[in-house]
Amino acid sequence: MALSVFSFSLLLHFSLLSFLCFGGEPTVFYELRVSYITASPLGVPQQVIAINDKFPGPLINVTTGNNLVVNVLNDLDEDLLITWPGVQMRRNAWQDGVLGTNCPITPKLNWTYQFQVKDQIGSFFYFPSLNFQRASGGFGPFVLNNREIIPIPFAQPDGDIVLIIGDWYTQNHTALRTKLDRGQDLGMPDGVLINGKGPYRYNTTLVPDGIQYETINVDPGKTYRIRVHNVGISTSLNFRIQNHNLLLAETEGFYTAHVNYTQFDIHVGQSYSFLVSMDQNASSDYYIVASARFVNESLWQRVTGVAILHYSNSRGPAAGPLPDPPNDEYYKEESMNQARSVRLNTSASGARPNPQGSFHYGSINITDTYVLKFLPPATINGKVRAAINGISFVKPEVPFRLADQHNLTGAYKLDFPSRPLDRPPMMDRSIINATYRGFIEIVLQNNDTTMQSFHLDGYSAFVVGMAYGNWSQDSRNQYNKWDAISRSSVQVYSGAWTVILVFLDNVGSWNLRANNLDRWYLGQETYLRIVNPEENGDTEMLAPNNVLYCGPLKPLQKTSSNSSMVSLGGNLHFLALMIFFLIFHSM
Ligand SMILES: *[C@@H]1O[C@H](CO)[C@@H](O)[C@H](O)[C@H]1NC(C)=O
Ligand SMILES: *[C@@H]1O[C@H](CO)[C@@H](O)[C@H](O)[C@H]1NC(C)=O
Ligand SMILES: *[C@@H]1O[C@H](CO)[C@@H](O)[C@H](O)[C@H]1NC(C)=O
Ligand SMILES: *[C@@H]1O[C@H](CO)[C@@H](O)[C@H](O)[C@H]1NC(C)=O
Ligand SMILES: *[C@@H]1O[C@H](CO)[C@@H](O)[C@H](O)[C@H]1NC(C)=O
Ligand SMILES: *[C@@H]1O[C@H](CO)[C@@H](O)[C@H](O)[C@H]1NC(C)=O
Ligand SMILES: *[C@@H]1O[C@H](CO)[C@@H](O)[C@H](O)[C@H]1NC(C)=O
Ligand SMILES: *[C@@H]1O[C@H](CO)[C@@H](O)[C@H](O)[C@H]1NC(C)=O
Ligand SMILES: *[C@@H]1O[C@H](CO)[C@@H](O)[C@H](O)[C@H]1NC(C)=O
Ligand SMILES: *[C@@H]1O[C@H](CO)[C@@H](O)[C@H](O)[C@H]1NC(C)=O
Ligand SMILES: *[C@@H]1O[C@H](CO)[C@@H](O)[C@H](O)[C@H]1NC(C)=O
Ligand SMILES: *[C@@H]1O[C@H](CO)[C@@H](O)[C@H](O)[C@H]1NC(C)=O
Repeated sequence: MALSVFSFSLLLHFSLLSFLCFGGEPTVFYELRVSYITASPLGVPQQVIAINDKFPGPLINVTTGNNLVVNVLNDLDEDLLITWPGVQMRRNAWQDGVLGTNCPITPKLNWTYQFQVKDQIGSFFYFPSLNFQRASGGFGPFVLNNREIIPIPFAQPDGDIVLIIGDWYTQNHTALRTKLDRGQDLGMPDGVLINGKGPYRYNTTLVPDGIQYETINVDPGKTYRIRVHNVGISTSLNFRIQNHNLLLAETEGFYTAHVNYTQFDIHVGQSYSFLVSMDQNASSDYYIVASARFVNESLWQRVTGVAILHYSNSRGPAAGPLPDPPNDEYYKEESMNQARSVRLNTSASGARPNPQGSFHYGSINITDTYVLKFLPPATINGKVRAAINGISFVKPEVPFRLADQHNLTGAYKLDFPSRPLDRPPMMDRSIINATYRGFIEIVLQNNDTTMQSFHLDGYSAFVVGMAYGNWSQDSRNQYNKWDAISRSSVQVYSGAWTVILVFLDNVGSWNLRANNLDRWYLGQETYLRIVNPEENGDTEMLAPNNVLYCGPLKPLQKTSSNSSMVSLGGNLHFLALMIFFLIFHSM
């Protein structure tokens, strides 16, 4: 037994070893132990999901080209998968960490993700994708650095700061899930956290005493890159720093044209880098604010995160009212105009030394159009559910490409409607039969009453347009065909549409979902299945050696003693790699 475990891991080890030698790219190791801890971010003790006992989790910091090995240990009492939205697994959806690509890591099991981060730079985050767990934490930042030889389109900042913002409930994810299962609304969140901490006590009525808040220490005269991620459940947040300009520089892996903002809307699932100069006189500390947006803001006052920007020569605490939120009650286009002003810097180099604008998407013919419409949640089979084009997605029992490889039929249907249909909504496991190397147009039509944010895994998409009203063919005349931003998470205003264009060159089954956790949980998602009809093993990787099996394929999983062998094998493998890594580095 011991011998077989050893040879098994040795086998894996050798296959990776050769890969390493030929790849010539460094391998970077992380271990993420996911467990519950008790924390009181809003002054009320609650069970929070921590990673390596930290909340938020540790930074994953890698450079383009690195081979990343992440050993995830599930110390929760439920299934787990970690996903890395925006980080593109080229040809390798096996590592994406959602139910359509991976079988869950069952409690107490280890599973090792392995993928190369290729041709990408930027600011991302990771989070647990199952069971509403993100509402209890489990998230952390993921930074993808440029290779040293590729210039960044701005002066090297004096420091790098991560701010993880998001709405927060003092109820845990199981309690929130129960509410949704009963058809209830989640109601107003209890607050907004910044880096896992509650608000600074800027107002003694609104903020109770004794809450721990975040302080960001800076030096006068310096410029910092501040990476802000909205990892929340469903609230769009307005981000601002008192008396400081936010110079937008990057979003979800693409460098933007430089524009200064005094406040900026960040929707659920979105990531931005701002360059912020510490050019104020330090007469006091300054407020960093993340406040609720597109809700009745006077009712939602407590849904405000406040941290402190502290200059090393500061002469006193921040005081007085918070900087004003945008006042656009009578000008609802303001936020959308801001979104339209986020443009690609087409002449800057991205991950490679060619300009980001070298792919002239505006002159490529669209091969397929999908109009995806979503309404407020409705009752289907006696349950309140959310849908896209009338299909409320049923969670996968087995990853789709794994089912394909085992000739398993019935795991999903390929009949996702490309237009809204005039029929009652239904539950189904229907995915999009998308064409490999097609250039598709996805119209997201929000007929729901709340702001929504959508995410596509495996890709970046050009956000060519958004406007209020219903999309029509004529809307194409308004598209930005030159410098639209390319990104993976995009907002869709209530009563409005957003259009993205995507070049389908990455095979696999990729999740398209609402970032709003409640809508996602209620079924507002599907997948794009993209397969090269001439697949010969070059366009899509094979399932990894440590692939987990579940659902109808569960019998393929080695029996319980063997399954611990698999995880143990994975672990020895990890150790072997670690040793190799150490030797490699001492050479
Ligand atoms: C979540 O909250 C419920 C209800 O308050 C409680 O019964 C349960 O133990 C909590 N679960 C976790 C994992 O914190
Ligand atoms: C992340 O990696 C980059 C490049 O290796 C390094 O310069 C930087 O200091 C690292 N950041 C942190 C916080 O470790
Ligand atoms: C604190 O907030 C309350 C409620 O919004 C408001 O009435 C009060 O004026 C605020 N206090 C200060 C000092 O701003
Ligand atoms: C942005 O504002 C800063 C001051 O905070 C200024 O130095 C810089 O020139 C501005 N940049 C642009 C592109 O407007
Ligand atoms: C420092 O800046 C604040 C805010 O801009 C201003 O009110 C104050 O007068 C300035 N103090 C000095 C000494 O320049
Ligand atoms: C927001 O709520 C306040 C307090 O209930 C109410 O007076 C106000 O009319 C509401 N505003 C809007 C735009 O609904
Ligand atoms: C785009 O990046 C280049 C450097 O690569 C820089 O010179 C230029 O100013 C940037 N353009 C804008 C609009 O930010
Ligand atoms: C796009 O379609 C038009 C009209 O169907 C055609 O004339 C043109 O050649 C196509 N362009 C490309 C790049 O395929
Ligand atoms: C699936 O079917 C193909 C073609 O019929 C066959 O070559 C392959 O061996 C089958 N795979 C499995 C795992 O049964
Ligand atoms: C999926 O699309 C391809 C071509 O794009 C077609 O050949 C195939 O029949 C479609 N499959 C189904 C089940 O509709
Ligand atoms: C939903 O669509 C209907 C019909 O087009 C329209 O009357 C209604 O205003 C829309 N509501 C929202 C919130 O978009
Ligand atoms: C998972 O990995 C950790 C650390 O490498 C190890 O301590 C633990 O025993 C492993 N658990 C299993 C089930 O393999």
